[in-house]
Amino acid sequence: VDRRTLLKGGAVGVAGLVGGAVLGREVLADGAGSPAAVATTGGGDVVDFRGPHQAGVATAPPAHAAFAAFDMRNRSPRAVAPLLALWTIVAESVTSGDARPDDTGETKHMGAGNVTVTFGLGPSLFDDACAARSARPDGLVDLPAFAGDRLEPAWNGGDLLVVVRGDTGTHVSHALRQLRNAAADAAAVRWVQHGFLPHATGKTPRNLLGHYDGTANPAPDSDAFARLVWLEPGDGPSWMDGGTFLALRRVRFHLDAWDAAGLTTQEATIGRKRESGAPLSGGEETTPMNLDAVDGNGVPKIPADAHARVANQSGPGMVRRGYSFDNGTVAGAGPDAEPDIGMMFAAFTRDPAIQFVPVQHALSASDALNRFVVYTSAGLWAVPGGTTSGPIAAGLFA
Ligand code: HEM
Repeated sequence: VDRRTLLKGGAVGVAGLVGGAVLGREVLADGAGSPAAVATTGGGDVVDFRGPHQAGVATAPPAHAAFAAFDMRNRSPRAVAPLLALWTIVAESVTSGDARPDDTGETKHMGAGNVTVTFGLGPSLFDDACAARSARPDGLVDLPAFAGDRLEPAWNGGDLLVVVRGDTGTHVSHALRQLRNAAADAAAVRWVQHGFLPHATGKTPRNLLGHYDGTANPAPDSDAFARLVWLEPGDGPSWMDGGTFLALRRVRFHLDAWDAAGLTTQEATIGRKRESGAPLSGGEETTPMNLDAVDGNGVPKIPADAHARVANQSGPGMVRRGYSFDNGTVAGAGPDAEPDIGMMFAAFTRDPAIQFVPVQHALSASDALNRFVVYTSAGLWAVPGGTTSGPIAAGLFA
């Protein structure tokens, strides 16, 4: 069953695999669009914080990022609303490069550095009776358990998520520090994972398995991108209009096993050539996968358990904006500790119940990549729409 059949409502449709989907599957149909390489930024420009959508979703990924989860000291709207209002001011300052009076000064003379700040709200923010429970978007659920996960407490949970990105590690560290300082009375950092990508190569970024990662993403200005990512009025509460959902998975790579497996196995695992990014069915990086292609013996050129095939066949599409991480070795694991190296998988979807959860279940069940990776976190975040004036997510407290 190919993607087209699935999307056109074939008998073995995606809808049959999921419960609780918010949007009709047909709304997302034909979402695949034509893939376009989205290269990392360079050149130190300003990315406007304000707009109908939050920056940091459609905008090209700079080479550095930090994913930071915060816990509210008190989840009352009386505490959350002022924090988001203050964070909005700080985010405007760090993205514009115009330092506030209490700025700590590390990026003086460095320019704005394509810094983006993207805010997300976690399910736990809506747990307490005192929080705005009725305003919780239907799509914002605790993710189900996925087979094979080894979730580590150190990397899970949080009431609020801040994703900071920028051209240099100094830009990212600085921006996160200003946000952290501003939050001090209201929220505490729960976990932070820094990440990086190849800098301004003009090509799709490669992950630490050596493969291009993001090839199948639709172009940011395409109809397909909008249909797969942005909530429209009626999709959720009004403060989510122009927003999206972010699924985050911290994935550790078993690099020793990957390196030992050799190139042929690696390429069969992904379903694409490492050097060119071309599908194993032929062509170049942006050539669509031909899932029906077989070799002279009738064996599928893209194996049944190849990551890209399984992901392609299990949902209508998503926009992936992951970052690599390298934290040395697994903390506290002794002299034989394995590398703590991998990827913060980050995917934006308009309806995670259709676009993310079934894909993750399918991958957990049959992805050849599972031999080489372990998922250590699972989180879903509501990313409110952008704001042209006033604080982010103001409608949540209206
Ligand atoms: C375990 C870590 C992961 C790695 C290293 C990884 C890597 C890759 C690579 C190299 C590709 C092929 C090139 C491309 O289109 O970007 C790909 C495709 C894809 N991956 Fe992953 N991925 C991972 C996890 C996931 C997860 C957790 C999901 C979703 C639940 C996912 C969804 C997809 C999708 C939708 C595609 C595009 C398939 C298509 O061609 O239509 N991946 N991934």
